[in-house]
Amino acid sequence: MRVNGRPMRTIWLVEPLGAVEIIDQTKLPFRFEIAKLERLEDAAHAIRAMLVRGAPLIGATAAYGLALALREEPSDARLHAAQAVLAATRPTAINLRWALDRMARLLGPLPEGERVEAAYAEAARIADEDVEINAEIGRNGLAILETLAKGKDSGPLNVLTHCNAGWLATVDWGTATAPIYMAHDAGLPIHVWVDETRPRNQGAFLTAWELANQGVPHTVIVDNAGGHLMQHGQVDLCITGTDRTSAAGDVCNKVGTYLKALAAKDNDVPFYVALPSPTIDFSLHDGVAEIPIEQRDLSEVTHISGRADDGRIETVQLTPDASAAANYAFDVTPARLVTGLITERGVAEASSESIAALFPERARRSA
Ligand code: MRU
Repeated sequence: MRVNGRPMRTIWLVEPLGAVEIIDQTKLPFRFEIAKLERLEDAAHAIRAMLVRGAPLIGATAAYGLALALREEPSDARLHAAQAVLAATRPTAINLRWALDRMARLLGPLPEGERVEAAYAEAARIADEDVEINAEIGRNGLAILETLAKGKDSGPLNVLTHCNAGWLATVDWGTATAPIYMAHDAGLPIHVWVDETRPRNQGAFLTAWELANQGVPHTVIVDNAGGHLMQHGQVDLCITGTDRTSAAGDVCNKVGTYLKALAAKDNDVPFYVALPSPTIDFSLHDGVAEIPIEQRDLSEVTHISGRADDGRIETVQLTPDASAAANYAFDVTPARLVTGLITERGVAEASSESIAALFPERARRSA
């Protein structure tokens, strides 16, 4: 995707077998800054403090984090310790564990002398595959957007999205945004309702910034406006991302996604989820009961940051000193509320049978 007209990815290698650079997403949309990751702890911090976030990008960053750790010491002990440190950074997005398991499976049996090169190569493969997967999701989702647009008499196709499942959440393209970017590039009139996504405002800060950079018409709304817009025919479909989807098609995503799916069901608005296959957790069947929900620092709820008129970034308190707060970062939308899962292999129904039919080799492995 482009930043000021220049094509970029969200993570890249500075030099062979060396440091990695990322876009520091905690600074957007007001400042565009690059951060360098030179050691395991830099990668772990980047994930934990959300300099990088979004399930696929967390996975790719963790893979490079292992490479950085082995660069310092390619021993078994270091491999296992680094894997444990990275796995503990965030609990919900399964891509993190998926990427670490894939790296460890490859690296564990190798002699120490071969590990560093192999780790960098595999991390690069994970990043490149993410880009390919998202491009395929884009093509499969585009067909849905084209069909819905044909059924409209006038006006652009109105898509509602929640959080940031854009290219910033992945290595490139995004998942939910890939069909949107492709539709826009193909000249299909499209407009995006962007949920602000409290408490961290990934919609208002990141999705809006991305869409503005790509020239896609969009409007930021408060999280509670979606239901009203759906009741008044202002939303043609919803597309969100996911951090972990159960084998039965229950979708875990940024908190508030479930409420959008309920409103969509009540208003017959199609509710699609863009789902790269590494995000499927075939070991889980009941997403609501089994997917661990991250609880984050309460200050994300009690305080908010933004740019003051004089250009300074300021953080202010929103809630009374005496009030308690809770900060659940994700929720689970049951499969019955999901119209379809847009994967790199096609569109699946949100059901065990349909998901397993698209990914039989993975479904079999965890059976
Ligand atoms: O807490 P975040 O910002 O990492 O949450 C991100 C999301 O909820 C995204 O929708 C999800 O990771 C899908 S990313 C393609």
